[in-house]
Amino acid sequence: MQLLQNKVKEEGIVLSNQVLKVDSFLNHQMDPVLMREVGKEFTQRFKEHNVTRVLTIESSGIAPGIMTALELNVPLIFARKQKSLTLREDIYVEKVYSFTKQESNEITVSKKFINPGDKVLIVDDFLANGEAAFGLARIVEQAGAEVVGIGIVIEKAFQPGGRLLSEAGYRVESLVRIASLEDGKVTFA
Ligand code: G4P
Ligand code: NA
Ligand code: NA
Repeated sequence: MQLLQNKVKEEGIVLSNQVLKVDSFLNHQMDPVLMREVGKEFTQRFKEHNVTRVLTIESSGIAPGIMTALELNVPLIFARKQKSLTLREDIYVEKVYSFTKQESNEITVSKKFINPGDKVLIVDDFLANGEAAFGLARIVEQAGAEVVGIGIVIEKAFQPGGRLLSEAGYRVESLVRIASLEDGKVTFA
């Protein structure tokens, strides 16, 4: 997606060989016009699937998620992150480990909001190791629903998430793919 690639080029800040800061349009300040285009693009790419729910994770997945859900005319659900949890009957829970943050969260979704037969499009802002996306997919599968695909705003293609998700059989559509953040610059795949 050229518009998004230009935005990354102009406003992305390379923090290290691993981390790209995009807090001027995605992770802190958000660009609603760009997010609307992101929603339209995911809708184009997945429109043949009769998506019934979009699923993301708080907090930065919510903006691209809601614009996609608006365009598809279906609800958005965002998984919540919690540090530790007392056992509850009414929620799906999965553990997600973040290599970037070196911490583990339990992510939860109320059983009310995903049902057997749902066709779920997973959306997230970043794809690194794929832990969050796999956790969301496991929640969809716990519910007896189907993951029709995974839409990612920015994939760091030098990390293994995209490959691992594809190998697991998921269709991954990334709007921008970054091959490298070496030498303080963004190289696109
Ligand atoms: P993974 O799910 O693909 O394995 O990714 P990882 O655990 O490494 O990501 C942990 C958090 O860091 C996620 O945000 C993810 O979006 C974010 N992240 C990973 N790589 C980058 C990067 O290069 N740049 C930026 N800006 N973020 C990155 P989170 O903790 O869920 O926070 P939130 O922003 O959604 O609240
Ligand atoms: Na994030
Ligand atoms: Na995220």
